[in-house]
Amino acid sequence: MKKLLFGACMLTVLSACNQDNSTNPGENTIDESISAGLVQRGCASEEIRQEALKKNPELQQKFAALEINTEKFANDLKVGKVLADGTVEIPVVVNVVYKTTAENVSDARIAEQIAVLNADYSGTNSDVSKIPAEFQSVSSGDTKVKFRLVNTVRKSTTKTSWSTNDDMKKASKGGIDATNPTNYLNIWIVGKMTSQGRTILGYATFPESAGLWNDGVVIGAPYFGKTGASSPFNLGRTATHEVGHYLNLRHIWGDANCGNDQVSDTPTQTTANYGKPSYPLYNTCSGVQRSVMFMNYMDYVDDAAMFMFSSGQKTRMQSVVASSGARSGLRVY
Ligand code: ARG
Ligand code: ZN
Ligand code: CA
Repeated sequence: MKKLLFGACMLTVLSACNQDNSTNPGENTIDESISAGLVQRGCASEEIRQEALKKNPELQQKFAALEINTEKFANDLKVGKVLADGTVEIPVVVNVVYKTTAENVSDARIAEQIAVLNADYSGTNSDVSKIPAEFQSVSSGDTKVKFRLVNTVRKSTTKTSWSTNDDMKKASKGGIDATNPTNYLNIWIVGKMTSQGRTILGYATFPESAGLWNDGVVIGAPYFGKTGASSPFNLGRTATHEVGHYLNLRHIWGDANCGNDQVSDTPTQTTANYGKPSYPLYNTCSGVQRSVMFMNYMDYVDDAAMFMFSSGQKTRMQSVVASSGARSGLRVY
């Protein structure tokens, strides 16, 4: 009762104070408070909150959740999961399933691949300068997603060829079981990989698979890292592309003729592009002709021909690693 009275009292003082400030900006409000017999100023917010919380269990729940969330964020900051500028650092486990020594990619090459991911996702890749002027304003710059290698698991196998059936993710099939896929991005490296007679550079699970046994990214050894990798896919961008899927990016052409990638700043394009297209490249969809963003990591061009994410793509990825996102587990050890 005493608290309530105090709160109501302070509310009156505050509103009076505000009014005075807006109508008579030059007036001395402290003198007024003193003359009104109030020496101490105060803020009623907390008192009013406590009263409201007492009366409303729903509000109480929201309050509790908010505090848990805040504490989690503070802890994320403390352990370096979230950097001060909001960057989320994703811990990575690389699983190498090899038959030949060439497939058993070196630690140096793994480090090289992580460095490529960090450059491409922070917009510090050496070829950013090639982004055409018309796309510079929608280029993502730093996506605020970083990667840190925490472990490498190696296993030799007798298998010479793999398909996209996830066998490499099962110890019982000659592969390696994922390490805690809720909290770590698992990357599997395998030798030759095909599907319906086509070479597969890599494939990934989308965020709806977060934490499942098969969650993560698979990359063919010849397309992983740079040194010793196979041209024209030897700049580490298969991983950049696949991790994009892992963070909820779709192919830029929307996997259909003039399809939708759910990103408004990537111009609608008819289909996938291959090789090294020359700029500008025009596509017509629904009667509208546009210069397309074939240099986006989510197209199918050669590694040397892709060098940007868009700002809309950054937003989609950020929403996935946000504390409320499907992959928030990557923020916690
Ligand atoms: N999943 C795609 C494929 O297997 C990956 C394309 C990556 N593109 C690249 N330039 N590395 O074809
Ligand atoms: Zn893809
Ligand atoms: Ca689009």
